[in-house]
Amino acid sequence: MTHLPSELEQAACTIEQRLQDTFKQSSLAPRLWEAMEYAVMGGGKRIRPQLVLASAALNGRGLLQEAALDAAVAIELFHTYSLVHDDLPAMDNDDFRRGRPTVHKVFDEATAILVGDALQTLAFETILQSQHIGYEQKVDILTVMTQAGGAEGMAGGQAIDLEHVGQAMGLTELEQMHRMKTGALLRASAVMGGIAGGLGRAQIDALDRYASHLGLAFQVVDDVLDATMDSATLGKTAGKDALAEKPTYVSLLDLDKARAFARKLHLAAIAEIKDEDHASFLLAIADRVVERSN
Ligand code: IPE
Ligand code: IPE
Ligand code: MG
Ligand code: MG
Ligand code: MG
Repeated sequence: MTHLPSELEQAACTIEQRLQDTFKQSSLAPRLWEAMEYAVMGGGKRIRPQLVLASAALNGRGLLQEAALDAAVAIELFHTYSLVHDDLPAMDNDDFRRGRPTVHKVFDEATAILVGDALQTLAFETILQSQHIGYEQKVDILTVMTQAGGAEGMAGGQAIDLEHVGQAMGLTELEQMHRMKTGALLRASAVMGGIAGGLGRAQIDALDRYASHLGLAFQVVDDVLDATMDSATLGKTAGKDALAEKPTYVSLLDLDKARAFARKLHLAAIAEIKDEDHASFLLAIADRVVERSN
């Protein structure tokens, strides 16, 4: 694994803490909360929240900014919702996630559906109730997050993914699907960080272009890892894409070409932000996305 700068490692601990704090509230539905906590606190690389913090840090005020931390928690809750639903029998039917049994295995399918529903709304609530994000920034952040998560983004990409099981797909369509199902939330993470950090339009646009390349690279690498790594390293069942006849960069190109494409996207991503002051965290995250083994 790429060695992250120590500040980013420190920030990762803070993200864990803030996520854990989300589950301190008492509730009338304790089993649902238990399942939500199981889904969120079961590991995960926390790339999206780190991307939020690293993007906000372009303002020169460091990684641990309160407004960005609230946005970071929100995007990880939203992402975890997408994973819980992605693993359901009606979708990818996966038994393992983040190194342990999936939510519907430990609890049940109905609970897993509700965990996704409740994590999504908890993500919105986290932004709305933030004491650190201004009113206009809340509207902008929620606009970005909802567009990225909906039918034009993650949910739409997931629909295309499921419609094409066992079917041929061209490279252009595959790229579009990957940009939607995975790229959109990574782009949203960077832009949300930019908004929380109070950056200007030009910097936010640069972040958007950086994360657009990186978001596609992220799913290309996910396809490569599915075909090349073992389940223990991945923390999820390896080899599922071929088994489920999913169109991927590995099935459409081949492993070497897919890896080369990820490297090209990595270079394109860093070219967008390398001249910025305070971009070192974004550069480290970009390296990690393509060099990771899980
Ligand atoms: C997995 O995302 C789903 C995809 C979008 C490829 P991650 O690889 O970021 O999963 P976690 O959060 O680390 O478990
Ligand atoms: C899922 O893509 C993207 C999501 C929106 C969750 P995958 O189905 O390839 O993700 P993994 O491999 O199960 O993590
Ligand atoms: Mg899937
Ligand atoms: Mg899946
Ligand atoms: Mg995958």
